[in-house]
Amino acid sequence: MLLSFLRKNLRLTGTKYGCGGGGCGACTVMVSRYDPQTKNINHWSVNACLLPVCQLHGAAVTTVEGIGSTKTKLHPVQERIAKAHGSQCGFCTPGMVMSMYTLLRNNPQPTMEDVTEGLAGNLCRCTGYRPIVDGYRTFCEGQPELFSKGDLLPLDPTQDLIFPPELMRLAEVKDQTTQRFCGERMTWISPGSLNELLQLKADYPQAPLVMGNTNIGLDMKFKGIFHPVIISPTQVISEWFVFVGVCVGAGCSMSFLKSVLERSINDFPPESTHMFRALLQQIKLVGGQQIRNVAVSTLGGNIASAYPNSDLTPILAAGRCTLVALSKDGRRRVPIDKDFFLGFAKTVLKPDEIVLSVFIPASRPNEIVHAFRHAPRKESALATVNAGMRVWFNENSNVVKEISIYYGGVGATILSADRACQQIVGRPWEEATLSDVYSTLVDEIKLGPSAPGGKVDFRRSLTLSLFFKFNLLRYMVFLYRQNHGITVLKWEICGQSAQDPVGRPMMHRTALSQATGEAVYCDDLPQTDGELFLVIVTSSRPHAKITHIDFSEALKLPGVVDVITAKDIPGKRFRTFTGYDEELLAEDEVTCVGQMVCAVVADSKAHAKRGAAAVKISYEDLQDRIFTVEEAIEKESFFLPRRQIERGDVEKGLREAEQVYEGEIRIGGQEHFYLETQSFLVIPIGEEKEMKVYLSTQHPAFTQEAVAETLGIPSNRVSCHVKRLGGAFGGKVTKTAILASITAVAASKTGRPVRCVLERGEDMLITGGRHPVWGIYKVGFMKDGRITAADFQYYANAGNVVDESVLVAEKILLHLDNAYNIPNLRGRSAACKTNLPSNTAFRGFGVPQCMLVVESMIDDVALKLGRLPEEVSIREINMYKEVSLTHYKMEFDPENLVRCWNECMKKADFRQRRQGIDLFNQQNQFKKRGIAIVPIKYGIGFAEAFLNQAAALVHIYKDGSVLVSHGGTEMGQGIHTKVQQVASRELNIPTSLIHISETSTQCVPNTCPSAASFGTDANGMAVKDACQILYNRLEPIRKKNPKGTWQNWIITAFLQKISLSATGYYRGHDLDMDWEKQEGKPYAYFTYAVGCSEVELDCLTGEYRTLRTDIVVDIGRSINPSIDIGQIEGAFMQGLGLYTMEELKFSPSGVLYTRGPSQYKIPSFCDVPLKFNVYLLAGSSNPHAIYSSKGIGEPTVFLGSSVFFAIKDAVTAARKDAGLTGPFQLNSPATPERACLACATHFTQMVRDESTSGPAQPWALNI
Ligand SMILES: Cc1cc2nc3c(=O)[nH]c(=O)nc-3n(C[C@H](O)[C@H](O)[C@H](O)COP(=O)(O)OP(=O)(O)OC[C@H]3O[C@@H](n4cnc5c(N)ncnc54)[C@H](O)[C@@H]3O)c2cc1C
Ligand code: FES
Ligand code: FES
Repeated sequence: MLLSFLRKNLRLTGTKYGCGGGGCGACTVMVSRYDPQTKNINHWSVNACLLPVCQLHGAAVTTVEGIGSTKTKLHPVQERIAKAHGSQCGFCTPGMVMSMYTLLRNNPQPTMEDVTEGLAGNLCRCTGYRPIVDGYRTFCEGQPELFSKGDLLPLDPTQDLIFPPELMRLAEVKDQTTQRFCGERMTWISPGSLNELLQLKADYPQAPLVMGNTNIGLDMKFKGIFHPVIISPTQVISEWFVFVGVCVGAGCSMSFLKSVLERSINDFPPESTHMFRALLQQIKLVGGQQIRNVAVSTLGGNIASAYPNSDLTPILAAGRCTLVALSKDGRRRVPIDKDFFLGFAKTVLKPDEIVLSVFIPASRPNEIVHAFRHAPRKESALATVNAGMRVWFNENSNVVKEISIYYGGVGATILSADRACQQIVGRPWEEATLSDVYSTLVDEIKLGPSAPGGKVDFRRSLTLSLFFKFNLLRYMVFLYRQNHGITVLKWEICGQSAQDPVGRPMMHRTALSQATGEAVYCDDLPQTDGELFLVIVTSSRPHAKITHIDFSEALKLPGVVDVITAKDIPGKRFRTFTGYDEELLAEDEVTCVGQMVCAVVADSKAHAKRGAAAVKISYEDLQDRIFTVEEAIEKESFFLPRRQIERGDVEKGLREAEQVYEGEIRIGGQEHFYLETQSFLVIPIGEEKEMKVYLSTQHPAFTQEAVAETLGIPSNRVSCHVKRLGGAFGGKVTKTAILASITAVAASKTGRPVRCVLERGEDMLITGGRHPVWGIYKVGFMKDGRITAADFQYYANAGNVVDESVLVAEKILLHLDNAYNIPNLRGRSAACKTNLPSNTAFRGFGVPQCMLVVESMIDDVALKLGRLPEEVSIREINMYKEVSLTHYKMEFDPENLVRCWNECMKKADFRQRRQGIDLFNQQNQFKKRGIAIVPIKYGIGFAEAFLNQAAALVHIYKDGSVLVSHGGTEMGQGIHTKVQQVASRELNIPTSLIHISETSTQCVPNTCPSAASFGTDANGMAVKDACQILYNRLEPIRKKNPKGTWQNWIITAFLQKISLSATGYYRGHDLDMDWEKQEGKPYAYFTYAVGCSEVELDCLTGEYRTLRTDIVVDIGRSINPSIDIGQIEGAFMQGLGLYTMEELKFSPSGVLYTRGPSQYKIPSFCDVPLKFNVYLLAGSSNPHAIYSSKGIGEPTVFLGSSVFFAIKDAVTAARKDAGLTGPFQLNSPATPERACLACATHFTQMVRDESTSGPAQPWALNI
C-alpha cells in the first residue's frame, strides 16, 4: 500500500497510520492526475492505507512534507490549524492538513459546507474539532478569537507545487501497454485495453478486479483473504455519457459520479431529476471524502461487492437502473433488482464478467424517488438501515401505477418489499392505503433474534419509519448537515508583564512541527540496523487450558526469526497490580479472547504477520465462562477488596422519606481510540545488558521497572524515552508496560532491535478500555424535591485481570455525591472478574460512569415528582451550597460550583429556552427537543500520596539556551507548553530560549504517571523549583550587572564556576483515604464545571443533533487558556461519544466485534454542537496548585452527559405523547437505537408487539 511505501521506503513519516482501513483519515495524501481530454489537472484526497502503489502509474502524490515545512516555508493550511490550537497530540493533524489542502487546490474559496464535507473522513480524538473548524473557517469567513487572523499567511495558490510536466506528457501519449508487477506471492496486472481485460478475466475468473480497493483491500488485510492474481482495470472502464438518463462507467469513483449527477440535475428538467437527487444524496454520505475520491470506491465495485449495507444498491434497484455486463462471450444488459443480488456478496454476474457501465434513468412524469439512510453517525459510517423508494402515479391522479421499495441492512442482501408494493399498486396514495402497508411490512421484513449486527427491533422499526418518512417527506426537514455555528470562548488574563507568558493562549509548542509532519512519534523513528518486527498472537478462546503451542510452521516461513513464549522470559513472568499477578504471556490457561499468548518476530511486519497467522494453539475449553456482571454476581466473581462508604443513616433516611424510588442504569464501556496505536522500539545496546526503550507511554518509569523485572536486570540498565504520544487518555500505562516488556524479551533473546506497533484491531482487542458499569439505586425524597437518602450499588466489568479496576471502583465511591449534599448516602462498588479483555484507566477513572448513575437518579426523582420545569430544579435544591463535608469528611467550599451553575443557567438562557422547547414539542409530533444542565465536582490528585510527587532537571547551556526535563509526558494535553511557560516566568526569559526534548528515565528518575489531571500541577511545581534554584544562584551576578543580558549572566556564571544545572522537586499533597474509617482527604482540591445542552431528536429514527452547548468551568487562573479550552472541548466531545454513540460489541462467546473505526464510532466533525460556548469562570483562584490554576484534563468528560440527558428529555416529551409518564430507564450510550425505541412511537410498538425475541441467542452480549 502507498502508506507503507511512503513511511518505510521513502522515509516520509508525516503520513500516519491510524487504522489501516480508510476510517480515520490519518493517512490522507493528495493524488493528482492530468486528464488529457479536458486538459485539467484533477486533485483528490485519498487514504494512503488503502491505495495500492501499483495503481498510481501516471499519478503525482503530494504528502504533508511536500506542501511546507518549518525549515523552509509553512503552507497556510499548516499554519492555521496550528495557530487555531487545532493540533493537540498532533497525530491526526497531517491528515487534516492534507484533506484541507486538497480542498483548497480544487477550490481556493470554499464555503463552510465544503470544509466540513472535506474533513468528514478525518477523525480527531483530542480537540473536539471546534478549533480545527475555526482555523479552517479563516479560508471562508469569520474572525477567530484565540488567535489573530491578521497574523496569518495568506493563501496564494500560485505558490503551490506544480504537477510534474513529464506526467502530463505521459498522459497525452495514451499508454496502452499492459503493466505487470510481480511480488513475493502476488501478481498485479493492469490491462491496457478492454479486450485484454476480458481475456484476463477469462484466464483468471477468480481474480478480483481491483478498482478502489476499498472492499477487496479490507478483505485481504483484515480477513486474511489471499488473491495470487489481481486485475486492475481502472483506466479501461471509466467513461460516462448522457442518454435519456445517465450512463456511467462502472469504474468511475463516487466523487466523479457525484459531479456527473450534479451536472445532470442542472441539465435535465427538474421533474426528471428525482432519481439523480436521491442517488446524489446517498453518495454524499458514502464514507469520507477520501473514500469517495479517485480510484477509490467505484460504482462498479460497490454493486459487484453486493454487501447488504450498500447505500447505493437499494436506490439503484428502486430507481430502475441497469448495468451492462461484458465478457469474452459478449455483452448483456442486466437490471439491478432483487434478482440481481443472490445473497451476501453474491450477484448473478458470471466469474468472467465485468460490469462495464451503469445506466441511471431520469425520472418520468409523476414519478417520485427518494433514498433514506440511518447510520450510527451522520457522516463516515456504514448505514444501519437504508432504503430506496419509488412511486409512479397515474397521470393527474394519486393512484399508484408502480412502486418499488428496497431496504438495505436488514438481511444478507438488499430486500424488496414486494408484498407491500403489491398492496399499494392500483390504490390511491392516502392514509387508508398506507396504514395497511405497515403491518404487511412488519410481516415481510423479518430479522431473527441473532441476526448479525444486532439492533433487531430497531432495524425493523426503521423499515416502518423510513416508509412513513417517504410519505411525510415534504414536511420533514431535519438539521443534520448544517454548518457549525460560531463558537464563543471567554477567558480572563490576569495583569502581568508583557514578557510573562503565563495565562496567555500560547500555541502548543510543537503544533507547527505536528502540522508539517516533522513531529516524531515512536513509529517514525528510523529503522535500525538488523531491526525485527514483533506481532502478538492472542487467544481465540474466552476460557481454556492451553494444551499445546505449535509454532513449527511459523518458523519455516520466510523472514520469521523466532517465536517468543512465556518460557523465554528471563525474569519475572508477570506484573503485579493491587495484589494480583497478571501474566505477560499466558502459559497454561487463557481467560479471555485477546489475551497475549506468544509473539512472532520476523524481518518485516508482513513476515511477522504471516508467521503469527501460522502459529497453532490447541485449547481445552473450560466451561465456567463469565461475561456479564450478572453472571459475575451470581458466581461471586470479584476482585477484592470490595469497598463501601456510608454517611448518616441510609435506612432511617429512606424510612423518613415521603417517596422512595428504585432505579438502575447501564453504562457501556469505551475504547480509548488514541489515534496512535501502542508503539515500541527496543534496542539492546549489546553491553552490560543495557536496553533503550522508545515508546508511547504515560508512565515511563513504570515501563522501565517492568522491563527490568521481566529481563531480570537492574533498572539502571533500562532507559525509557518518550518524545510524545499520539493520544493516550489513560490507555497507555499498564498494558503498555506489558507490551514493552514482551518486546524487550524479544530484543534480549535475539540480540536485535525489535519494533512492535499494534494494528488498530489488535490494539482494540488487547488493551481494554473504560469499564462498563451497572448502577442500581434506591432513593428517598420529599415532595419538595429534597433527597433524604440514597443507596448506590455499582458493578464494574473489570475483565479477566485486575489491572486498575479496584482503584476505579474506589474512585467511583469517592464521587458518589457529585455536587449534592445528600445527608444519608451509601455506596458499594465491586470490580467484577469476567472472561473479557481487562479494562483499565480511562480519562475520569470511573467518575463519568459513577456520576451518570447519580444524575440518572436525580432525573428519576424529577420525573417521579413530575416537576414543572419553571420550578427550582431537583439539582438546585440538593446542591452543596456552603462550606461542607463530603461523604468521606473532606471539607470544601462549593462557592465556585454554585457560581458555575448560576452562570451557566444565565448564559444558556435556560429557563427561557425551556419554555421555547416545550412549545416546540407541543407543535411537533415526530421531532422533539430536549434540554439538560448538569454540574460536576471533580477531585484532583491521587489518593495514593506518593503518586503526587514530581521531579525536574533544568540545564542552562553556555549560550543561554535552557533544556528542561520533567516527569510528565506530552500526549496532546499541552504539558510541555505549560511547563515552558512556567520556566519562562521563573527564569524571566522568553519561551524561545527554552526547549523540552523528551521524557526520559535517564534525566528524571522515579516519575509518576501523567494522569489524574495532575501532570501540570506536579511537574510544573518541580520545574518551578528547579528554575528558582537556578535563578537564585544567578542573583549575585544579576545584582552586579543589572543591565546585563541573560547570555552575559550565564557565561559569567560559568566562568565563576556556578553550576548551571539544577534538579527541582515537588513533594505533592499528602493525600490519603482510610477505607476502614471511610474518611480521608483523597484530593488536593475540586475542579467545578456545569454544562447545558439542547438537542433535537427525530423520534422516528432516533437521530439527534446537538443544537447548542454552553459550558462554564472553574479552572482557577488558567496557565494557558487555549490549551485548557482545548482540554475542555476535547473531553466534552469524548464524553458525548461515551454517552451517546460509542458502543463496544462482544459476541456471545466473548469476541470483540468492534475493532476499528468502521464498527466503532467516535464523534466526528458532524457531531460538534451547532453552537458551542465555553466560558472560564472569572475571578477564581486556587491556593492548592501552581499559579492558582486547576487540573482540567478529565472533569469535563462528564459534561458530555448533558447531551445524554437532553436526549432523555426529548424522549420524555415523545413518551408523553404516547401516554407514558414517569421515570424510565435509558441506558448509555443513548444511541439512536435506544432513543428511538424509548420514544415508544407507533412503529416501535408494532415491531415489539410482533416480537421476534425467542430462545435464540442475541447477536451481541449485554455486558
Ligand atoms: C472506510 C470506508 C467507508 C465506507 N463507507 C461506505 C458507505 O457509507 N456506504 C457505502 O455504500 N459504502 C461504503 N463503503 C464501501 C465502499 O463504497 C465500497 O467498498 C466500494 O464502493 C467498492 O468499490 P471499489 O472500487 O473500492 O471496489 P474494490 O474493492 O476494488 O472491489 C470490490 C469487488 O468488486 C469487484 N468489482 C469491482 N469493479 C468491478 C467491475 N467493474 N465489474 C465487476 N466486478 C467488479 C471486484 O472484483 C471485487 O470483488 C465504505 C468503505 C470504506 C473502506
Ligand atoms: S490509516 Fe488510513 S484511514 Fe486510517
Ligand atoms: S490532535 Fe487530533 S487525534 Fe490528537
